[in-house]
Amino acid sequence: MESFAPISFRSVKILFLNGPNLNLLGTREPEKYGRTTLAEIEHQVRERSGLLGAEIEFRQSNLEGELVNWIQQAKGKFDWIVINAAAYTHTSIALRDAIVAVQVPTLEIHLSNVHAREEFRHKSLIAAVCTGQIAGFGPTSYILAIEACVSAK
Ligand code: DQA
Repeated sequence: MESFAPISFRSVKILFLNGPNLNLLGTREPEKYGRTTLAEIEHQVRERSGLLGAEIEFRQSNLEGELVNWIQQAKGKFDWIVINAAAYTHTSIALRDAIVAVQVPTLEIHLSNVHAREEFRHKSLIAAVCTGQIAGFGPTSYILAIEACVSAK
């Protein structure tokens, strides 16, 4: 009988970061962002990650510096950062510099299609230092990000 060498799988570790005002999802501009709360998105992300064997942390902050700290702390602990930087996407050189500094592969995500909205949302200061961008799929943007991280590993 053929014997198989044991294969050890290490799960992909993904840090999900959410920027300002995303704590208000569910009631905030539902025509743009839908009615799903951030807690419900986290639940969906945990379910999907479990099925795909990914380990996740899921955080939200309204403070730019706190997001910078979390990006810095990801080095050596996470394989991927998935970030919905919300409005800081369009303004924050600090987030961009932190992503470059830690060299943890990072995916930029958005619920809405930022390119189909106001002109100031077309510019992302972090896009050029991210592996890719997923935008416009509502909460599914988060799920697609897990698929991307797991497949790319
Ligand atoms: C957003 C898009 C940003 O332009 C906006 O500032 C947000 C949410 C999105 O997920 O669609 O707060 O990141």
